[in-house]
Amino acid sequence: QKETPDYRPQYHFTPPKNWTNDPNGLVYSDGKYHLFYQYNPFGNQWGHMSWGHATSTDLINWNHLSLALPEYNNADGSESMIFSGSAVVDKQNSSGFFTKGQTNGLVAIYTAFVHRNLAPIYQHQNLAYSGDDGKTWQYYKQNPVLDLKSKDFRDPKVFWYAPQQKWVMTVSKADRQQAYFYESHDLKSWKFMSRWGRAGNTARVWECPDLIEVSVQGEKTKKWVLFISSGNPQELYPGMQYFVGEFDGKSFKPDQAYEEPEYVDFGKDFFAGVTFNNAPNDRKILLGWVNDWEYANDIPTGGEWRGAFSVPRELSLKRTAKGFELIQWPVSELKKGQKEAFSTQNLKVTSNYEVPFRGNIFDLELTLKPQQAKVFELKLLQSTDEETVLRYDVSEQTLSLDRTHSGNVSFNPKFASVEKVRVPLKDGKLQLRVLADKSIIEVFAQNGEKTLTDLVFPLKKEGKLSISSSGGESVINLLKINSW
Ligand code: FRU
Repeated sequence: QKETPDYRPQYHFTPPKNWTNDPNGLVYSDGKYHLFYQYNPFGNQWGHMSWGHATSTDLINWNHLSLALPEYNNADGSESMIFSGSAVVDKQNSSGFFTKGQTNGLVAIYTAFVHRNLAPIYQHQNLAYSGDDGKTWQYYKQNPVLDLKSKDFRDPKVFWYAPQQKWVMTVSKADRQQAYFYESHDLKSWKFMSRWGRAGNTARVWECPDLIEVSVQGEKTKKWVLFISSGNPQELYPGMQYFVGEFDGKSFKPDQAYEEPEYVDFGKDFFAGVTFNNAPNDRKILLGWVNDWEYANDIPTGGEWRGAFSVPRELSLKRTAKGFELIQWPVSELKKGQKEAFSTQNLKVTSNYEVPFRGNIFDLELTLKPQQAKVFELKLLQSTDEETVLRYDVSEQTLSLDRTHSGNVSFNPKFASVEKVRVPLKDGKLQLRVLADKSIIEVFAQNGEKTLTDLVFPLKKEGKLSISSSGGESVINLLKINSW
């Protein structure tokens, strides 16, 4: 009997035990970030979906709280699971759920998946509210608040649209690959405004929409960005797309036709990402589920828990000749408490260089000039016969993440994979930030222009790190490894 290695990440969110998938109800209120999450209170695979709850003041250290929204039985004998959704701070008590003058009431807007013995009946939108900072919750007696009698209508993201002093809901008509937009003044009655979709990648259902206004770097301009979690059945593409455009309070108009989809992350394990409502200083912070439905129920995390979230990512946009490009960067809070474990500068690499560092929990920065090299590799979580390889191909200008020899890849035939994305050099240089956290690798290339997120399950603990250059010499301008 082999012991399962410890795969529970240290600085990424995981539930204390059992299963999680999507992050839900991300909202900042009264000095705390609230994180709710799709949760099975009874097991470590998908089922009995409910909302778990945690809070944090720094987005990295989470305080686990009791179950917020449990599944329930309906009067007609059907049952409702609590699917994904969002939460808002009802500052003006527009819903009337709170005591007069209360400014910190929380309202959750979730999809109820109504079923009989798991046979789907409807998916419709519902409310729950909490007047005590999310500690206890009541379900609204007149639920549902939005019902199309549809089996594929889910994941409402509600936000406050200040220019028209109203709530706006973006919700997915999943099987039609469309986002529907509704408005409300009290969160209880919703009026249809418009719909948009069937663009980009439409091979699979559209889930977890999120419409937010994001700042353009170095400008006063802001643009609206619509996020959609999708993917395709062959899993040839990553799961999340984004569309940049305008929103006038009524409808979303993309800047381009998006015949070529734009993806958020190019690894296999970034899905169902959504952003915090009401975050201070208008921060836009994205959190994704580090997993893939193809094998999510099988990942060998060891039985107690299953599922984790990405590091919270600060979003901005960058103006390019092609339009606006999404930039993601780990929140600055991640640096807190880090210590430098190793650093070097201006190092020439001809063949193989073993970095004098061992570990599987780190935050690494690398700036590299491939010069004459044809291929450059950064090998992580390495032992004699295991490694996760980040490879840069100079002639293709592509970055790939290869986990085919990363450890346990046999638990599901879909798991062993190599993902690749085009990352052009800038002034002949490649800049990488690599976060490793036992079973999670997150790569941010060229200061957050492209990201790749993958799960890995190394069986050995050696945690070696090495760098190799083939076809010629490369120069490492900077290599810095921080740990905690
Ligand atoms: C996305 C999703 C959502 C749904 C939830 C159910 O991963 O399928 O569309 O609300 O998971 O757990």
